[in-house]
Amino acid sequence: MAEYNQVYQKAVYYDIAFNRDVSREVDFMVALYHRQTGADLHSTLDIACGPGYHAREFAKRGIRAVGLDLRPEMLVFAQEQAALENVTIQWIAQDMRRFELEEPVDMAISMFDGIDALLTNIDLIQHFQAVAANLTENGLFLIDVTHPRDCSFQDYGTFVYNGCRNETVVDVVWATNMPTFDLVSAVAQVNIEMRVSENGRQQVISDTAYERLLLPQELALLAERSGMFQAVGWYGDFDLNQPLDNSPASRRLIAIMQKVR
Ligand SMILES: C[S@@+](CC[C@H](N)C(=O)[O-])C[C@H]1O[C@@H](n2cnc3c(N)ncnc32)[C@H](O)[C@@H]1O
Repeated sequence: MAEYNQVYQKAVYYDIAFNRDVSREVDFMVALYHRQTGADLHSTLDIACGPGYHAREFAKRGIRAVGLDLRPEMLVFAQEQAALENVTIQWIAQDMRRFELEEPVDMAISMFDGIDALLTNIDLIQHFQAVAANLTENGLFLIDVTHPRDCSFQDYGTFVYNGCRNETVVDVVWATNMPTFDLVSAVAQVNIEMRVSENGRQQVISDTAYERLLLPQELALLAERSGMFQAVGWYGDFDLNQPLDNSPASRRLIAIMQKVR
């Protein structure tokens, strides 16, 4: 596993570029949980939460939320934002491959390609087992990654994110080196750049890490191989009526795993 530590340490800059309204995504999660289990969603875990956009949105709706991330800087920032929003969330700095919550949750989520930092099948199986161990009976695990059309063996793609806040402008280019996924390991070395302009001062933060391309078939097989999950749903957007397919309306790859034991 290798991480974009230079970038993820700069939680404030990350937030300027990546901050977004996730209320529609959370609407989908609440409705999905109800449809799949027949019960209301009471507790959640936002895995690789970064600034905790989803955890904070759950907490605003009165749903208990835990945010987990490897980088303490992200969690300090997330905690400050939660305090400003007057919501209470438990933040834990742990590795998503091995962690233990004080209490199990109904639903775990892994958003915005957070899972692609896990490079090997063993990492992924450990991750699935750790998630399942912290879910309630029949709990759900939602995984959200880039649609395979938009990031593939043929073309990694170039993704640009930007934002501006109080005289600080942040542009992120993901990736700058036209990465290619190795055909055997499905791993690519990815270079990214965060360009920051703050009070007239410019800086470029360059970072490199490895990412794994995860296709739907192997995602399902690895989850099932963990012995803890069954794939129960595939969506192409945060919309219960949008299946995962090759149409333009299918924008993301959203996999739903249900704990089987
Ligand atoms: C692309 S960001 C996603 C942030 C957030 N979920 C969002 O929707 O914007 C990926 C996050 O994963 C975290 N991360 C990477 N490897 C991790 C690991 N092994 N365990 C926990 N968190 C990890 C990083 O620190 C970073 O905050």
